[in-house]
Amino acid sequence: MKKIRDTWGSRLGIIMAVAGSAVGLGNFLRFPAKVASNGGGAFMIPYFISLFFLGIPLMWIEWTLGRYGGGFEHGTAPGIFHSVWQKNRFIKYFGVIGIFGPLVIFIYYTYIESWTLAYSLFSLMGKYSAITTQASMRGFLSGFQGLEKNQYFNGIGTAYLFFLITFAANIWVIYYGIKGGIEKLCKWAMPLLFIFGFILMFRVITLGTPDLTKPDWNISNGFGFLWNPDFSALKSAKVWLEAAGQIFFTLSVGIGVILTYASYLSKGDDVVLSGLSASSTNELAEVILGGSIIIPAAFVFFGPIDTQSIARSGVFNLGFVTMPLVLNQLPLTQILGFFWFFLLFLAGITSSISLAQPAVAFLEDEFDINRKKAVGIFGVVAFILCQPAIFFLSKGVVDELDFWGGTFFLVLFATIETILFAWVFGMDNAWDEIHKGADMRVPRIYKFIIKYITPLFLFFILGIWFWQEWVPIIFMKNVSPVNHPYVLTTRVGLLAVFLLLAVMVKIAWRRRKAGMENIR
Ligand code: ALA
Repeated sequence: MKKIRDTWGSRLGIIMAVAGSAVGLGNFLRFPAKVASNGGGAFMIPYFISLFFLGIPLMWIEWTLGRYGGGFEHGTAPGIFHSVWQKNRFIKYFGVIGIFGPLVIFIYYTYIESWTLAYSLFSLMGKYSAITTQASMRGFLSGFQGLEKNQYFNGIGTAYLFFLITFAANIWVIYYGIKGGIEKLCKWAMPLLFIFGFILMFRVITLGTPDLTKPDWNISNGFGFLWNPDFSALKSAKVWLEAAGQIFFTLSVGIGVILTYASYLSKGDDVVLSGLSASSTNELAEVILGGSIIIPAAFVFFGPIDTQSIARSGVFNLGFVTMPLVLNQLPLTQILGFFWFFLLFLAGITSSISLAQPAVAFLEDEFDINRKKAVGIFGVVAFILCQPAIFFLSKGVVDELDFWGGTFFLVLFATIETILFAWVFGMDNAWDEIHKGADMRVPRIYKFIIKYITPLFLFFILGIWFWQEWVPIIFMKNVSPVNHPYVLTTRVGLLAVFLLLAVMVKIAWRRRKAGMENIR
């Protein structure tokens, strides 16, 4: 019997789901930290250039390729790439990246997401409300993560419990499928997230000058600190790479998830306006909300010098140490703390379910496994894979997963997709395909951009990476020697997962071929 693929229930549903995938921890933690440490407002120049020449084109490419592949009942990159270039026997193996990448991000992202759920309850219970210093709040976080035993926590048990709850919540949502699970969640979670975001933004804007003995530590200087441009930063290649990397991460392009989500569209569904709406929602959440909460608030309470070092100390510090300390100084601290962490949780879960879906779709589409069973298999495998990220957090495992899954493979995958779309499928075909059922025309200049500028930009980024970073990365120059065995083991594990997925692709195609010969 022919299997019927899932579909979206409404247009608003898929826009919310793709926006949900895009709006994530990256918008509220990663973005402000990057702006503050890469030239302030000047960072927005490479950021917007990357948005217009990489982010938006890739978004349209993925929506279009996804819908096209869905027409051949393929929801993941191996099948979608093969549908585009049927004569090439190898292209499907390049598509493995589109399942591998999201799976790798999922296994650490879900753990961090579980901290946000834990902290939202800690806020309501006032568990950290008496803490007033950075060192103690850091101790609270380390105790929670199981990195030290202290007066707050005596092991990793609490964190593990919240991980189990968060993991189960993710599995529960995808178990109910595209329309019944993902779409339903995103339709209420996204508006709620925006409500919490705007409340926090208005609270920060109205902070004024809380400490009159330090009149310069006021909110307008806080915004100035984040946004005043330092144009000299633009001379550094690193700033440009960071901006491009942020665009990939925040829009969820180059990962494979938009391909999968778009594969559940029907042939005549618009992708041009829907894609643009989802991306604009993400940019609103990132630039307006993400840029107006954490850094300006930190400035008002900690001043310019400390805020600079806080921004450079990484996103965990910013979200789980600085922000709780800021909120502890305000009235209604428990409620505001809950808003902050629950906002992060909603942003996180609507992204992590999208990271899980490609692997589930792969099992369903290529092995004819029903959804419930596919989700079961995914659940067991992903659960096992999450364990190293939890227990070896301090050994560099998460950084390693983030580099391969969340940085390097994104750019590589995006390059493959763009070449396939613009040069193999052909720009004229691609242009027709984009506009099937479209509610608006893509500006003509994008025909040129997608064909020449986007691939050149991508090659340039890959080139600079190889040139500047390859040797230190391969030889683990930035990893402390005690962590080398953990990082190496992580690499071997990642290679094994990749090869396993490639073998699965081979088996799936062999089965398909045998099935077709039987029909003949
Ligand atoms: N796009 C998601 C984020 O920004 C992954 O967190």
